[in-house]
Amino acid sequence: MAQNYRITLLPGDGIGPEIMAIAVQVLKRIGEKFDFTFTFTEALIGGSAIDATGDPFPAETLEACKTSDSILLAAIGGYKWDSLPRHQRPETGLLALRSSLNLFANLRPATILPQLIDASTLKREVVEGVDIMVVRELTGGLYFGEPRGIFTTESGEKRGVNTMTYTESEINRIGKVAFETAMKRRKKLCSVDKSNVLEVSQLWRDKITEMSADYPEVELSHLYVDNAAMQLVRSPRQFDTIVTSNLFGDILSDAAAMLTGSIGMLPSASLSHPGQPGVYEPVHGSAPDIAGQDKANPLAQILSAAMMLRYDLNQAAAADAIEAAVIAVLDQGYRTGDIVSAGFEVVGCKAMGDALLKALG
Ligand code: IPM
Ligand code: MG
Repeated sequence: MAQNYRITLLPGDGIGPEIMAIAVQVLKRIGEKFDFTFTFTEALIGGSAIDATGDPFPAETLEACKTSDSILLAAIGGYKWDSLPRHQRPETGLLALRSSLNLFANLRPATILPQLIDASTLKREVVEGVDIMVVRELTGGLYFGEPRGIFTTESGEKRGVNTMTYTESEINRIGKVAFETAMKRRKKLCSVDKSNVLEVSQLWRDKITEMSADYPEVELSHLYVDNAAMQLVRSPRQFDTIVTSNLFGDILSDAAAMLTGSIGMLPSASLSHPGQPGVYEPVHGSAPDIAGQDKANPLAQILSAAMMLRYDLNQAAAADAIEAAVIAVLDQGYRTGDIVSAGFEVVGCKAMGDALLKALG
């Protein structure tokens, strides 16, 4: 009997449902080709979950996620929900998903494709050949540290508080993912911190340095986050794998993404321990300004589905086939608005999806 995979789909908000629809078509087609099937369960998260239930991460969604083999997420958020109290914001739903599934390791690849080099805002000679993997810690640090809140001081003044914390075990588990990721790549790991100012970063640096004894083949370096931001735009090719904390990784992964020309091209994987389901999602947001207009680029969503096949479902050949189809449609000249450059015509989301299905055969 053909292998069947239970996948929870979280289309979310904005352009989410449009790009998810394309990803589902692509997955079905790839299943036919490689002889496996999917049972898809759709669940609510973010703004659409708030509208339907009042909660950005309903209990049924968590249940669906926990009982599936893997989770494919599109995007959450939009202007409509921006002024709601924090516990009812779409972002809170995403953070709850990450923490309740223990998705501590976020892999964000930023690879420049030769086909899209002119879509980058940086010079060709700077970005040519860029191939970076950002390993971002995702369930700790400033995003989750306690105490947090807006308090009132004795003098009656308000005071906002967040706390950046990392325990040794949190650093060790993300460090392990990072060293192992580097081992499968060019064996260069750069750890990014702010240890010239922050104690939490000092511990981070000490622990990562200690761990490097177990990975003698990996060339380890350390950068302060401000310098890392500068180096990323100055000479990005110096980087292979980057490991960093939650907030720094949030910022640096957007910068790394933009080197490639469009954030609309980049997938990501959020992983827990082996055997637990991961969440696969594009790095970009829900783009409410173009939602429902058939303008979105579905490729980051498709490439996220490929990462899901590779990491969670152990179907590397199927993942390779999807990645090859993405390259093929770019070679054929298909461009959505975000990646268009002189000499190309703009196609919509659906037309890009049709081209992909055709490329898959
Ligand atoms: C990301 C996003 C999220 C984050 C937001 C939407 C909470 O920016 O995945 O990078 O800050 O982690
Ligand atoms: Mg971000």
